[in-house]
Amino acid sequence: MKIQIINGPNLNLLGVREKSIYGDTGFEPYLEELHKRYPAVRIDYYQSNVEGELINKLHEIGFNYDGVVLNAGAYTHTSVAIADAIAGINTPVIEVHISNVYKREEFRHHSMLAASCKGVIAGFGLDSYRLAIEHILTINNI
Ligand code: DQA
Repeated sequence: MKIQIINGPNLNLLGVREKSIYGDTGFEPYLEELHKRYPAVRIDYYQSNVEGELINKLHEIGFNYDGVVLNAGAYTHTSVAIADAIAGINTPVIEVHISNVYKREEFRHHSMLAASCKGVIAGFGLDSYRLAIEHILTINNI
């Protein structure tokens, strides 16, 4: 069982950036918690601030992983290229957001990616990632 988490731009600043929206935990300590919670699952993590690098990672893992948990950050709202990458791979991709984007500025209400994804989870803080993992386990009968 292999799951890839991909975080996009500015998510390297979790725990530092806009704490009232994104909380005060960095992603690495949260990832450790996920590894402890799911010892039998390989959970790989990749973060980039660069759109093309996110696309390269989707291409690299998109044919041999069981699921992708993708927080594309602001590219969610703008990137046709990432939407095309998601549509072009076999592995199901779940779009996640830490914040409830629907409670925020109107430009965050639209996702360019959602129609190419299996589904969207938003607004549960870092727990959004765990909820997405639970779905990937469920569809694999685990
Ligand atoms: C985000 C929401 C996006 O609108 C924003 O640009 C982010 C983070 C979230 O996880 O809530 O960078 O994807």
